This record gives sequence, structure tokens and C-alpha cells, in this order.
Amino acid sequence: AGRVELPIQLPFEFADISRISILACGTAYFAGFVAKYWFETYANLPVDVDIASEFRYRAAPLRPGDVSIFVSQSGETADTLASLRHAREKGQHIVSVVNVATSSIARDSDVVVPTLAGPEIGVASTKAFTAQLSVLACLAIAAGRARGALSAIQERALVQALNEVPQLMIKALELEHESEPLARQLSESSNMLFLGRGTSYPLALEGALKLKELSYIHAEGYAAGELKHGPIALIDDTCPVVVIAPHDHLFQKTASNMQEVAARKGRIILISDATRERAACALEAHIPMPSMHPFTNPLVYAVPVQLLAYHTAVFMGTDVD
Ligand code: F6R
Repeated sequence: AGRVELPIQLPFEFADISRISILACGTAYFAGFVAKYWFETYANLPVDVDIASEFRYRAAPLRPGDVSIFVSQSGETADTLASLRHAREKGQHIVSVVNVATSSIARDSDVVVPTLAGPEIGVASTKAFTAQLSVLACLAIAAGRARGALSAIQERALVQALNEVPQLMIKALELEHESEPLARQLSESSNMLFLGRGTSYPLALEGALKLKELSYIHAEGYAAGELKHGPIALIDDTCPVVVIAPHDHLFQKTASNMQEVAARKGRIILISDATRERAACALEAHIPMPSMHPFTNPLVYAVPVQLLAYHTAVFMGTDVD
């Protein structure tokens, strides 16, 4: 009904905290990285996001009474669990976003916000990723309301955007025929880049991870604006560059990065609701996405990103599960 109602009682007030730390590994870390943008944008709340295996060996100052969020599908990842225990010693409130409700991380948390994605059968986390994003999106809205950063009208708009995600994901799945033929071309490459800005940056990191993990092709994700600081040297006509660029306020900036790639004969695969013409450069392929509220871009754009990795792996005959 246009509001986020958390199914749990939080033992703290979002209005009273000064910082959230999000700790996780791999794909769960990238979900947390997207959430950093959301908490900052919609709740005006500073967020540190860290790889659990680094965090546990750092001396990150933590203010007692602040909140640490642990994201994990299995709830058993050793580094994430060790970070949780470290954060507890530092007086943090412990919130976990886990899929397995009986897991060690769930048991050791003050509050569990379950992802309810059902058992994850494949090794590569896919539905868990989108479920983690959904839960974190709701937490960001709840934090925004509690901190007065979002009005009731703004909350309603964000909730409505979330409610539209299933339909948008169906549309994104119907575009499967766009990514399938690309698989043959991608399978011939030994290196690929994924670029994005804003929440599309962590999604680019996730896209590269999925491709590596499933197809064994080397891929790296970069913030689009970081390209000129080194990685552009890698680009030539053998290097496919997947650009995740929803037609939002960041699109023009990313388009100028695409033009730099095109100038080096990079083979651009654009995933966007913008028309080809708006890229103003040569594209090898365009996956035409439906338009949506910018808030939900990472949830829906995850679908073509996962399908690219899936079809490339299937085409190459590797075991996607
Ligand atoms: C990638 C993948 C891994 C996990 C990571 C954390 O597809 O599955 O990167 O995301 O090992 O696992 P959990 O979420 O169980 O803590």
C-alpha cells in the first residue's frame, strides 16, 4: 500500500545511527555495494561497504551503537561470520540479510531480514543476488523514512517502483533472444570489460564475476569514469565491452566513455533503455531494456547481465550449475 513495513522489529532507530557498515563476500558484497548508493541517496546515511575477508583484518573504527549489515546467501561464509563477531565486539547492532534462516550468521545476529529466495541450487548466485537487492532496497526506504530523508510521497513512489520490478523482470527475460546470439561472439574472446556508473558500477563488477565464474573467460568490471586511468589500454577490436547504462542522469557521462571505447575499436554491447542513436558511437549490439524508475535499475538490469554469462557458458559447454 505504498509503504515499507519491515516484518521485524529493529533494536535501534535509523534516526540515531551515524553510519552503516555492510560486510559480505563475492556477489553478496556487490549487492551490499549497490545498497551503499541507496542508503546514501534515499536515507542520507553514510555507508562503508567492505569485503568481509579484508574487514576482519583491518582496524576499521566502529562507533558503538551503529549498525553493521551482513549479507550472505548461505549464512555460513567464514569470513562474513568472523566479521560479524568482530563487529559485535565493537558494540555494533548486527543485522543480517541471509537466505538460510537456520544458518550460523542468522543465529548470531540481533535481527535477521530473510531473503526468502528458496534453496540456492547452482554455485553461481543469481536469484539470491536479486533477493538481497530487494531486501536492502526495503531497508534503505525504511531508513529514509525514519530519518526524514524521504517524504510519504517519495516513499510511495519508491515502493511503487519496487512493485513494478516483477513485470519489468519478465520483460527483461523476454529479451533473452538478444543475449543468446551474443554468446557465440563472446565465447571467442579471452578478455572482456564491464562498465557502469552509479548503481550500475557494482552491477558491472557482478557481471564480470558471473562471466568469469561460469564461462572461465577473463572479465573485469570498472567504474566507467575510471576507464581512462589505465584500463583503456586494454581495449582493441578483440575486447568486448559490456556497458550497463540506463537512460538516467548519468547516461551522457557513460556515453562519452563509450565513445572513448569506440575510438579504440572496442566492441561495445550496450544494455540500456536509451536508443542506439543516443550512444553516438558504433555499437556491436544493443540489448534494449524497458524504462523504469532509476531506483530499481540494478534489480532489472541484473537479468540481462546474468543471461549473458549463462548463454556464453552454455555455448562453451561449461557447467553453469
Ligand atoms: C558468486 C557467488 C559467490 C558468493 C560468495 C558469498 O556467484 O556465489 O561470490 O556470493 O561466496 O557467499 P554467501 O552469500 O553464501 O555468503
